[in-house]
Amino acid sequence: MHALEQKILNEGIVLSNNVLKVDAFLNHQIDPVLMQQIGKEFAARFKDAGITKIITIEASGIAPAVMAGLELGVQVIFARKYQSLTLKDDLYRAKVYSFTKQTESTIAISNKHIHATDKVLVIDDFLANGQAALGLADLIHQANAEVVGIGIVIEKSFQTGRDLLLNKGYRVESLARIASLDNEKVTFIK
Ligand code: G4P
Repeated sequence: MHALEQKILNEGIVLSNNVLKVDAFLNHQIDPVLMQQIGKEFAARFKDAGITKIITIEASGIAPAVMAGLELGVQVIFARKYQSLTLKDDLYRAKVYSFTKQTESTIAISNKHIHATDKVLVIDDFLANGQAALGLADLIHQANAEVVGIGIVIEKSFQTGRDLLLNKGYRVESLARIASLDNEKVTFIK
């Protein structure tokens, strides 16, 4: 997606050869115009997939997921990483290990909002090692619903996540695919 790649080149900061900082438009400050374009792009890619629901994970997945939900006309659920005061009973839970942060968290969604008939699109901001996406897929499978695809805003293609998800049979659509962050430079896969 050209506009996203330009934004990454103009406002992204390469922190190391495997971490890209995008606080200017995705992870802290959010650019609503770009988010709307991202929502339209996800909707275009998945428009014929019969999606009935979108699932993402807090916090940074929410903005692109909501924009895609608006375009596709479906509800959006965000999995919780932290305990909620009001969300307690009847939860589906999965453990997610982050290789980047070296922490394990338990993610959860209520079973009220997802059903066996749902065809679900998973959306997340980054794809690194694929563990968040797998955790979300796990929640969806617990509900006996179908994972129709996985939509990613920024994929770090030099890490293991994409292949892991493809090998499990998931359709992966990434709007920007980064081949390398070496030498403080972002290089995309076209
Ligand atoms: P994985 O799910 O693909 O295995 O990724 P990983 O555990 O490595 O990533 C954990 C967190 O770090 C996620 O955010 C993910 O979005 C973020 N992340 C991974 N690589 C990068 C990167 O190069 N740049 C940035 N900016 N973030 C990266 P999170 O902890 O869920 O944070 P948030 O959603 O609350 O912002």
